[in-house]
Amino acid sequence: MNEALKDTICLQCGNKLGNYQNFSNKIICSNCAYEYPVIEQKIPILLKNPHKYLAEILSEYEKYIQESENRLQEIVVSDNKNPLRSQVIKSIESGIIFNNQYIQLLREQISKHIELNHLMKIATHEKSYGYSANFSYLQRDWCWLPEGEEELELIQNTLLKYILSFDTERDAAIVLGAGTGRIAWDLRDKYKWMYATDLSYTMAALFYDLLEKEIVFYEINQKNIFNDTEAARCLTATMYPPKKEVVQIQQPSSENFSYFIGDALHLPFVEHSLSTVISVYFTDVVPPQFLFAEIARVIKLNGIFIHFGPLAYHFNDLSYSLAANEIRALLKQHNFEILAEETVPTFHKSSSVSMSSKLYRNWTFAAIWSGFS
Ligand SMILES: C[S@@+](CC[C@H](N)C(=O)[O-])C[C@H]1O[C@@H](n2cnc3c(N)ncnc32)[C@H](O)[C@@H]1O
Repeated sequence: MNEALKDTICLQCGNKLGNYQNFSNKIICSNCAYEYPVIEQKIPILLKNPHKYLAEILSEYEKYIQESENRLQEIVVSDNKNPLRSQVIKSIESGIIFNNQYIQLLREQISKHIELNHLMKIATHEKSYGYSANFSYLQRDWCWLPEGEEELELIQNTLLKYILSFDTERDAAIVLGAGTGRIAWDLRDKYKWMYATDLSYTMAALFYDLLEKEIVFYEINQKNIFNDTEAARCLTATMYPPKKEVVQIQQPSSENFSYFIGDALHLPFVEHSLSTVISVYFTDVVPPQFLFAEIARVIKLNGIFIHFGPLAYHFNDLSYSLAANEIRALLKQHNFEILAEETVPTFHKSSSVSMSSKLYRNWTFAAIWSGFS
């Protein structure tokens, strides 16, 4: 695991970071001595300003915990009002408290790496990283529920079709905004090196925890459910599919796999070093203009960029919220040529216990990068 981090570069001086030492709490650039923290001696933070990031993440966890405590107080008030719903309301309350213990643990892990001066600087931090207390991708990716597997199969089949048709080199690939890592993990045997990166500490921590153990958590459904016993549903996430549980005694191989906390807009790679860049439900998370410029910087000549997802945009700035035809034009500007495309509908992160589900008509494509003209 993480062996291929030897090929990543320092975001300060551009030099290769060199050998990644397991079980160390930092990676030190051998050229400029800049230090990148490795949380819990496992999770590398390869960001331009990792210490500021840690302080911001800590403040985000604090904010979440405060808001969650306020919500719990409201829940207690509802409980007192209707004794008939007392059992359901108590199950929601204990589900939230249970999940919060995990978030509190992550807060403690981060706080060990924080320096006071960085905390002071972010006193006015308003930016939100999102996904700091979100278990929905853990549920879809690692609980082996039929609805999650159905969505993942549609995604993987599309990616595989593009990879097998167009990806001739299959050297080093990266999955951007990789979430809890399932999509990258399942594709790792198709590449010499597979990188996964995400900006959320929670997503990375969930992935690293799964490598070592099962994670028990609650799916909380405060409303819109068929059965009140499913208001707080206890789930177990594991890397082992249920059928293989008995025979599988070894850890799944992670030799060619690396997962680091990173920003898809500032990747720690030298120019033209990756053969494939994969973006699933991610192209609309950051402004595509900046994303495509960064992909064009790191992708090799004739490398493949694969996109899967809607264009729902996770921000309000209309100047970046491009339609598919505008994305097409932007790709051309960055010297990408679409080789194949199709629309693949999926129910996104749906749950069998809920009455609602989001249907995306995902635009998917594979594009080749033909170099700077
Ligand atoms: C909509 S989720 C998709 C997760 C994953 N691609 C999947 O489909 O399973 C978007 C992910 O992008 C991550 N993210 C947001 N901004 C990012 C950035 N600048 N660089 C890398 N990851 C980012 C979020 O933390 C989140 O995990």
